[in-house]
Amino acid sequence: MIRLFAFQTSILFGIPTVIASYIGRPKLELDTPALCIDLGLMEGNIRRMAEFLRRLGKSWRPHAKCHKTPAVALKEIAAGAIGVTVAKVSEAEVMAAAGIRDILIANMIVGQPKWERLAALCGCADPIVACDHFAQIEPLAAICARNGVTCRVIIEMNIGLDRVGTRPGRDTLDLALAVSKLNGIEFAGIMGYEGHLLRIENANEKRRQISDAMAVLAECADKLRRDGLRCDIVSAGGTGSYQISAECPGITELQCGGGIFADPFYLQGCNVSGLDSALTVLATVVSRPTLDRAVLDSGRKTLNPDVQLPIVKGWPDATIKRLSAEHCELTLGPQSQNLKIGDKVELIVGYADFTTPLHDHFFGFRGERLEVVWPILGRGKLQ
Ligand SMILES: Cc1ncc(COP(=O)(O)O)c(C=O)c1O
Repeated sequence: MIRLFAFQTSILFGIPTVIASYIGRPKLELDTPALCIDLGLMEGNIRRMAEFLRRLGKSWRPHAKCHKTPAVALKEIAAGAIGVTVAKVSEAEVMAAAGIRDILIANMIVGQPKWERLAALCGCADPIVACDHFAQIEPLAAICARNGVTCRVIIEMNIGLDRVGTRPGRDTLDLALAVSKLNGIEFAGIMGYEGHLLRIENANEKRRQISDAMAVLAECADKLRRDGLRCDIVSAGGTGSYQISAECPGITELQCGGGIFADPFYLQGCNVSGLDSALTVLATVVSRPTLDRAVLDSGRKTLNPDVQLPIVKGWPDATIKRLSAEHCELTLGPQSQNLKIGDKVELIVGYADFTTPLHDHFFGFRGERLEVVWPILGRGKLQ
């Protein structure tokens, strides 16, 4: 029965039969390296984030950059998310193909091919695109008007990250007025990302600075409304700050996405509480050069350590020493020195965003048994 289901899965979703054949089997039988989701923990995180935001009266539009997978986005929507946030037109296309309509592309989209695709997307979904200059939107408007579709647009404001975004005040108001006059475009609101404030250690200081940044957005939204514009969307927030930004008045929705995996970057680096790390790489010990060293088959082509080092699950005295392309070297303490060649080890992914795009599939486990294999359909979608 399990085999039959696995075979059907491979036909239905294009998953290679050899991979689908693992469904129903225990984790330790899976070949490595493999990107594994603890479904119970991820679903718990999704439920808690959705409930928290619902209680505070904010909509949830989770960023999909950490998973790039429609199956995961559909779980978020089933839990109450109003749609999804992405960074690329091609990611939006992947989500739209799965039937998701409300898609925020929280990024500047520039160039004729992308404007054409975005306008085409407006025929089958209801995307929103961010901008911080008229030059990003005027050509899109012309194509949309010609195609008889309307694309929603929000303005990204610089609320201190100094990456992209209009200056709060006159610049934002002028752009909003100009955009709102275009045929083929509906001005839908504003957004800002407080990414520079996630790692402030002092809790009071973090709250103060995030509240100030959110107030800049809320004040600008009020000004736009006083100028006669609709400003339905005031969007902000990442996982590293969502527990604070959700409490700020005037913000209508939050883009926090990575919390569904609750990587150590968020729990340790940003002091986010109430979520459980759900994403691991299962690896195999392939060499034991010395008593206090083990080498795993999960180097940088499997696991990106740049933002936050992975954690060795279940072996508190084992630490990551170095990652090269195909090798992950561990330093072992007295307990983990029992590890031998062929043993499987799980590494908690430090920051999922740079690791998931290295993989073709998520392996979703219910406890220790493989329940589902999801192709990471947004992998390689960079344009
Ligand atoms: C525009 C935007 N929104 C939200 C986020 C936060 O995403 P996450 O909650 O996955 O950290 C980011 C992170 O880079 C971002 O660039």
